[in-house]
Amino acid sequence: MKLFVVKPVKRLQGQVYLPGDKSIAHRAIILSALAYGKTRIENFPPNDDCLTTISVFKKLGIKISKGNNISVFGKGLTGFKKPKGPIFINESGTTLRLLLGILAGQNFQTQIKAGKALSQRPMLRVITPLRLMGAKIIAKPSAANSLKPEEYPPIIIKGGVLKGITYKLPVASAQVKSALLLAGLFTKEETKVIEPVKTRDHTERMLEFFKAAVKVKGNAVTINGSRKLASPGLIYIPGDISSAAFFLVAASLLSNSKVILKKVVLNPSRTGIIDVLKRMKASIKIKNYKSHEEPVADIEVKGSRLHATRVTKKEIPSLIDELPVLMVASSLAKGKTVIEGVQELRVKETDRINSMIENLSKMGAKISSTEKGGQENIIIEGVGCLKGAKLKSYGDHRTAMSMIVAGLTADGNSLINDISCISKSFPDFIKSLKTLIP
Ligand code: S3P
Repeated sequence: MKLFVVKPVKRLQGQVYLPGDKSIAHRAIILSALAYGKTRIENFPPNDDCLTTISVFKKLGIKISKGNNISVFGKGLTGFKKPKGPIFINESGTTLRLLLGILAGQNFQTQIKAGKALSQRPMLRVITPLRLMGAKIIAKPSAANSLKPEEYPPIIIKGGVLKGITYKLPVASAQVKSALLLAGLFTKEETKVIEPVKTRDHTERMLEFFKAAVKVKGNAVTINGSRKLASPGLIYIPGDISSAAFFLVAASLLSNSKVILKKVVLNPSRTGIIDVLKRMKASIKIKNYKSHEEPVADIEVKGSRLHATRVTKKEIPSLIDELPVLMVASSLAKGKTVIEGVQELRVKETDRINSMIENLSKMGAKISSTEKGGQENIIIEGVGCLKGAKLKSYGDHRTAMSMIVAGLTADGNSLINDISCISKSFPDFIKSLKTLIP
C-alpha cells in the first residue's frame, strides 16, 4: 500500500463548497424511490456509501439517472422487484440499516451481504424491533462464547404484513430510528419510536417534505402508513457538516487561517461540533443563514488558540462522527478536555477510540480512555505541539482525515498507511484541502 505523506502547513486560506450531506443523500434516494414519479436530487455526493444506496435501489428495480444531479423514478411503497441474487451493500452501514426497514415491508425475501468491516458491526439493534413488527430476519449470530448475544451481516430478510409498535431505543441511533420510521410507512397502526437522546432528524424532516403522516413530540416520533408519499419534485442536498468539520478544526488550529465553508447544513441535531468548538474559543461565524427543509449557511472560521472543554454524553449524538477530529483539536487545546459517553465509537467503521488513541499518542498527544458501568470517556491533556509520526487509517475514512488534519499542524512530516478509505464519504478531500494551502 502506498504511504501518504502529510507535510505541516502554516495556515489555510480560501473557500470550499462541501459535497452534499451523506446522511441526507441516502434519505433523498430512499424516499424518492418510495414515492411515485420523478424526483430530481441536486448536489448529490458521489461517495462510495451514497453510490451503494443508488446501486441497491437499482437492483430493486428503480430507475435512477447518473450525474451530479440525479433523477430517481419512484414506484411507490411496494413497487420494488425481488432482486436477482444477493444485494451487496459494501461498507455502508446507513444504507443497510435503513434498507432493512423498507425490506421489512416487502413480501419477498432478500439476501444482503456486506463488506469485511460492516460484517463485523452490530445489527441486533435494528433487527430486534423489526422482528417485533413482524419481519422475518436471519442474520449471523455472535460466537457461542461471546459475552452478549449479537447478530451481523449477512442477513436474509422476508417482510410482509407489519404491525405498528411503540419502541424505546436502548441506544441513541438515527439509523435505527430511521429504519423503524420507514417500516412504519407499511403499518396501519401507529409506530412510535422514543429516543433516549435526540439524534439527527433528517428522516423526519424528509418524511414531512414527502407529506408522510409523521409527528414529532419531544423525543418521540410517530408515523403511520395512512398517507402515500408525494414527491416534492426537487431536493437540494446542502453541504456535509461532517466533512466541513475537518476544515473547521484544521483552520482553527493553524493560526492566521481564514476559511469559508459554503452552503453547509446547519440542522441543530448535527451542529454539536460548532457548539463545542465555539466553547473552546474557536473563531467561528455563521453567515447567510437560510431556513429551508434543512437549514443552510456559510461558516467562516479563523485560526485561534483553543481551550479545553467538557463534552457531556447528551451532546454526543450531535457530533458522533466529528469526535475523531475533535480529539485532534483537544490534543492541542490548553487544559484538560473530557468527552463523556463515547462508547458508540467502538462500533463505527473501526474502533475509533482505539484508532485515535493509538495514532495521537504516536504524535505525542496525552490521550486516554476510562470505562465505568458501560460508559466510556476520553480524557485529553492538551500539549503545545504534535510531532510527525507513522500513522494508520485502520481503513476508516474519518480516522484518516482526522490524522491528516493532525499532520498539517505537526512538527515534521507524517506518513499514513492507506487513505483510499476517504472515498467512503469525501473522495475530493485532498483536492479541496490543497486549494486552501497558500
Ligand atoms: C447516521 C447516523 C449515525 C452516524 C452515521 C450516519 C445516519 O449512526 O454515525 O455516520 O445517517 O443516520 P448511528 O445511528 O449508528 O449512531
